[in-house]
Amino acid sequence: MSNPPEQFGAPRGAQPAVAGGQARIAVAYHSGYGHTAKQADAVAAGAAAVPGAVAELVPVDELTDELWDRLAGADAIIFGAPTYMGSPSAVFKAFAEASAEVWAADLGWRDKIAAGFTNSKAMSGDKLNSLVDFAVLAAQHGMIWVGLDIFPGWAKSTASIEDLNRLGSWLGAMAQSDADLSAEKAPPETDLRTAAALGARVAAVTLRHQRGSLAA
Ligand SMILES: Cc1cc2nc3c(=O)[nH]c(=O)nc-3n(C[C@H](O)[C@H](O)[C@H](O)COP(=O)(O)O)c2cc1C
Repeated sequence: MSNPPEQFGAPRGAQPAVAGGQARIAVAYHSGYGHTAKQADAVAAGAAAVPGAVAELVPVDELTDELWDRLAGADAIIFGAPTYMGSPSAVFKAFAEASAEVWAADLGWRDKIAAGFTNSKAMSGDKLNSLVDFAVLAAQHGMIWVGLDIFPGWAKSTASIEDLNRLGSWLGAMAQSDADLSAEKAPPETDLRTAAALGARVAAVTLRHQRGSLAA
């Protein structure tokens, strides 16, 4: 997933694209040590590979006006964070709490498409709890949640670790990074392919949503 995602720069106070236009996908993520950043890259690359979609990485480490403007201009926001102590990292939670200002302004993210991904060192590591956290955040914002439409891989005696969705998640994309490996080596390609599949699905659904709005 080395292709850099196409970028879009939303002007200040930008509105989402009009129906039938380009689908703008923002990947709003945190990564403490770079592993989840690789997953975020893969999600964005997967979204940008869909014709008609553009993707932008939006790190949430610094809560600047520019960050909020970029998210306002997106048609879809994909949330991502490492799982720390069984939930999204504190940096991501600070971003989520600060988004209450958007919420208070008549649900500023209403009807945007939403999805989520997380990475941690254990196969489970309670990653599901982080995805649930993202889904609840999206629901509170009046967003429309998109999960992963891939049957669990690596779940038969004949299956392979290289299967898509090897960690068997429906709610969002999961990745696993061995604790002794740097972000150069983890998470593995198999999980990055799953991340890209989530990005592509979100882009496709966002485009369909836009066309539906046009027809309505
Ligand atoms: C404070 C802290 C808490 C963690 N809690 C968990 C956890 O609950 N489950 C797990 O599997 N891994 C846990 N880990 C491991 C990280 O999820 C893992 O190292 C991950 O790859 C870090 O991603 P990052 O490089 O994007 O920060 C924790 C790591 C830290 C630093």
